[in-house]
Amino acid sequence: AAACLVVLLTVHRLLHLSGVAAIDRGLFPPGFLFGTSTSAYQVEGGYLEGNKGLSNWDVFTHKQEGRFGDVNPDGVAFYSSLIDNLLQKGIQPFVTLCHYDIPHELDKRYGGWLSPEIQKDFGYFAEICFKMFGDRVKFWATFNQPNLFIKFSYMVGWYSPGRCSEPFGNCKSGNSSIEPYIAGHNIILSHANAVSIYRNKYQGKQGGQIGIALCIIWYEPFRNTTADILAVKRALSFSAPWFLDPILLGDYPREMREVLGGRLPKFTSKQKKRLEATKLDFIGLNHYTTCYVKDCIFSQCEIDPINGDARVFSLVERDGVPIGKETGSPFFYDVPRGMEEAVMYYKQRYNNTPTYIPENGYSQASNSSMTAKDFTNDTRRINYISGYLTSLASAIRKGADVRGYFVWSLLDDFEWNSGYTSRFGLYHVDYKTLKRTPKLSADWYRKFLMGSPLRR
Ligand code: NOJ
Repeated sequence: AAACLVVLLTVHRLLHLSGVAAIDRGLFPPGFLFGTSTSAYQVEGGYLEGNKGLSNWDVFTHKQEGRFGDVNPDGVAFYSSLIDNLLQKGIQPFVTLCHYDIPHELDKRYGGWLSPEIQKDFGYFAEICFKMFGDRVKFWATFNQPNLFIKFSYMVGWYSPGRCSEPFGNCKSGNSSIEPYIAGHNIILSHANAVSIYRNKYQGKQGGQIGIALCIIWYEPFRNTTADILAVKRALSFSAPWFLDPILLGDYPREMREVLGGRLPKFTSKQKKRLEATKLDFIGLNHYTTCYVKDCIFSQCEIDPINGDARVFSLVERDGVPIGKETGSPFFYDVPRGMEEAVMYYKQRYNNTPTYIPENGYSQASNSSMTAKDFTNDTRRINYISGYLTSLASAIRKGADVRGYFVWSLLDDFEWNSGYTSRFGLYHVDYKTLKRTPKLSADWYRKFLMGSPLRR
C-alpha cells in the first residue's frame, strides 16, 4: 500500500504540473459501469489446451489444420469458472460472442463469413452461451467491431483469412470489391439470429441485454469545403452505420447504397422483418482516434486501403500539424474532442439508444531494448484516458445516454497483425515469464474509481 501511495503521489504531482482540468468519478451518473476490456484470443494463450479446436486465427498465425465437433465441455468449464470468479470479486462480466476469431473449420467448410450458412452456426453458438452462462452474464455483445475486422480480413488482407485482391497488394485470392459486403451482410443477419434466439428463449427468464460493438473513428473535414464536408458524411456512413443502420433503421445508409450500387447485397422483405423485430438493446462504440478526410469524388486522390470505397482519403496531418498528440500506434492520435463529437453524432443518428464505450485506450510502441520500467511509467496513457473521460462526461452532460466505459486493455496483449509490439495494457506483461506489473495508469484508474478527484 505504501508503494502504491508513493506512486500515486508521484503521478499526481507530475500530472498536476500540466495544469489541466480535474476528472472525477462524480462527473458520471450513478450506476455508470467502469471496467477494462480484453479478448480471448489476445490474452488467453493455450490454443490447444482443454480440447479446444483451432480457430481461424490459430491457422492464420501458425499455418496448421483443425478439428470440429460438439460443444467442448472443457471450454464451457473454463468460461464458467472465469465468470464465477469475476462475480465473486464484484466484477460484472460483459461478454462479446465474436471478437474476430471463429473455428477454422467454418472457413474450410464454407468460407466462414462469406457464406449465409454461418448465420445458423452463429445462432447455435450464441444459444450455447446464453444457455450455459446467461444465468450470470447480463450483457452480451454479438460482435466486436465488424466494420473494421471485415475490411482487414476481406479487403486488405491484414487479418485472417487474409483475403484481398488488386489493388491491395500481395495477398491470397479474393474479390475485395464484393467480399467485405457479403461478409458484412452475413454478420448483420447472424446478429439478428442471435438476438432473436435471446429474445424468444432467454431474455425473459435471464433479464439481460444484448447489443453489438462497432469501431468509431471520428472524422473531420481536411478543408472547410463542401466536398470535404460531404466526404466526412460518406466516411461516417461507411463506418458503424454500415451495421447499425440495417439493425436499427432497416437498411444500409443511403451513401453506401449510392456509391456501391450492385456491390452491396440487399435485404429481402423477410430479412427486413427480422431486423425490425430484433434490433438491439444497446450500442457499443469503441473509440480511439480522429482523422481528417478529403473528398475523392470531385478531386483526384490516392487509393486509401481502408476508406477507399467511401471515396475519401484519410490523413492525420494538416499543413504539417498532426491532428493530436502521437501515441505508440501510427494509426491512433490523442484527440479527446473526438469522443464527445462521435458520441453526440450517434446519439442523434440513433435516437439516443443506450450506449457503452467497450474500448478506449492508449498503445505504447516497444522495442527489444526497453525494460519493464520504461513501460510502467505511462503518464501519457493517463493523460489520454483522462482527456477522453472528460470529453465523454461532457457528452453525458449534454444528454447522451452513455452507461459504461471500459479501458482497452487490462493487460498488454497480442495486437493482431502488429503481434506483441504494441502495448495497450494498464498492466505490463513480461512475455517470457508472464509476470504482470501494474503501470502508473492502473493505479491512476483505481484511484479514479475510488472517487478522489485527480488531476491530469
Ligand atoms: C480494437 C479491437 O477490438 C482490439 O482487439 C484491439 O486490440 C484494440 N482495438 C486496439 O487496437
